[in-house]
Amino acid sequence: MDILHTLSALRHRLAQEPAVALVPTMGNLHDGHIDLVRRVQPHAPCVVTSIFVNRLQFGPQEDFSRYPRTLEEDCARLKQAGCAVVFAPPENEMYPEPQTVTVDPSPLQDELEGAIRPGHFRGVATVVLKLFHMVQPQVAIFGKKDYQQTLILRTMVRQLALPITLLAAETVRAPDGLALSSRNRYLSPAERQRAPELHQALKAVAEALKQGKTPQESLERGQLDPTCWRTDYMVVRRAQDLGAPTPEDRSLVVLGAARLGSTRLIDNLEVLR
Ligand code: PAF
Repeated sequence: MDILHTLSALRHRLAQEPAVALVPTMGNLHDGHIDLVRRVQPHAPCVVTSIFVNRLQFGPQEDFSRYPRTLEEDCARLKQAGCAVVFAPPENEMYPEPQTVTVDPSPLQDELEGAIRPGHFRGVATVVLKLFHMVQPQVAIFGKKDYQQTLILRTMVRQLALPITLLAAETVRAPDGLALSSRNRYLSPAERQRAPELHQALKAVAEALKQGKTPQESLERGQLDPTCWRTDYMVVRRAQDLGAPTPEDRSLVVLGAARLGSTRLIDNLEVLR
């Protein structure tokens, strides 16, 4: 496995590859990321995993500087998983000058995660488009845990006519249901015990929807204990575009974001009713 830090080394390494698959990450890899590598392998002989903590997608009060950077461990895991190339550019390689050209992705960037984290999706779409140009993959894969991110990136690929097939992988969970996330490591032992309550709340809402309850009735079943949790949002949306569902819509998604202490968790569940 090659570990590359510059665009010129990357271009040189990939020049003869007939097809490339990209797994974009910010590092601090967990089993969910490794699952993405394994799932994308059948789609191209060369899998590139990018590791870059993207300052552009963090707000001023967010955890950019304390975001865990664990390149050595990440590379060991990627090698075992059969990744061919790790692209881990330093900041001045990704952004050699201030990034004044950015991607403003769809109106969806101002809702849900975007409403709580203004500018977040502009930062995500900008770095992902830049990674697409750097790596020039035929296929890229993202996790459904970041449902809104995946939808926004799919829209970007479609509207900018990028020649890339975008795959979305199911969320990987701990045995107690907690969605794997690099941010789980911020949880104290007591918070870690409570953390699966977010998934349980989403499940309760999903069950109610399947039983024929309206989104509003269903959401009443999914309330998190306000003495421990600070809920940013818990909503039912149309799966296809995150629009407000009509009674005719069958394919829905329940999305939740809530804080336990200083750790913010997000999760979602798709529902077919
Ligand atoms: O999902 C992530 O880890 C990041 O948002 C991504 C897609 C790697 C862009 O920095």
